[in-house]
Amino acid sequence: MRILLKTILLGTSICMLHSCGGVPEDKADTATVENAFSVEEVLEMVSKENDVTRTLYTKAIVGKGKTQGMKFDEDWRKDDVEAGPLPALFLRGVATSLRKSPVPLGLYLGSDFPVNAANKFEGKQAELFTQIKKDQKPQFFFDEDQKLHTAMFADLASADACVTCHNKHPQTTKSDWKLGDVMGATTWQYPKDSLTYKETVDVLSSYAKGTVDVYMEYLDEIENFKASEKPEIGDKWPEEGFYLPSAEVFLDSVKKLSSYETVKHLVVTSE
Ligand code: HEC
Repeated sequence: MRILLKTILLGTSICMLHSCGGVPEDKADTATVENAFSVEEVLEMVSKENDVTRTLYTKAIVGKGKTQGMKFDEDWRKDDVEAGPLPALFLRGVATSLRKSPVPLGLYLGSDFPVNAANKFEGKQAELFTQIKKDQKPQFFFDEDQKLHTAMFADLASADACVTCHNKHPQTTKSDWKLGDVMGATTWQYPKDSLTYKETVDVLSSYAKGTVDVYMEYLDEIENFKASEKPEIGDKWPEEGFYLPSAEVFLDSVKKLSSYETVKHLVVTSE
């Protein structure tokens, strides 16, 4: 099955594209190529989208799935491990999918006390992270070495599962995380300081496609389970029983929960 992501612009953006209110055709055309958003605005939009997706995955899939006996593991990709991805690895999967996409959007999840040493912030990002821990406000800067506009957003312990798993993890470097703590930050990078509507839509679509890619890898993994019972995949969620939503149903919920203002609807069609 292939999933196509189509993005629809609502409200004012449709007006700009189709010259509502008597804007001459040629002016409307220029409007579509002029840069519409600053890189900060776009990275903020995609980060909000990420918060919604990650919380949904952590609570409704991992949290509720575990109560049904479903397993989630950091080694979920290994052949002898029959399990789904942990939330951080779900995000890492999205980052990998983004690297393979033509959209130059970078994503990284780091911390000052990481479970995985490779996720420890360094340099400028480590410096800004101490500020994020104080006020939980986003930080923006231009990374001179990589020539990339960079935005960092707090990653909060939003569910009990975050805290218990990190505190108990054999490789943990901190075992007293509490609900609501700033456990880390997502770092997003993009090469340009402003984006057109199309580039903005491409960023949001490639993020959404990344989540669908990882989720579908998880469903493929289940397909190949040999020893474990396979949950039924369709329109039901783990809170209703031994079920998992299909990729379309999962993405549909993300769409309903997400709330960025200008660019709104991500429509999924399958063929
Ligand atoms: C069942 C265990 C588990 C749960 C639940 C979990 N994590 Fe993690 N988390 C991990 C593991 C394992 C890693 C390291 C993954 C890797 O190898 O990159 C990690 C990585 C991270 C990182 C990157 C820094 C680090 O520690 O390596 C952050 C930040 C993070 N998790 C925050 C969260 C938040 C916030 C939640 C809840 C929304 C959460 N985690 C839920 C196990 C968990």
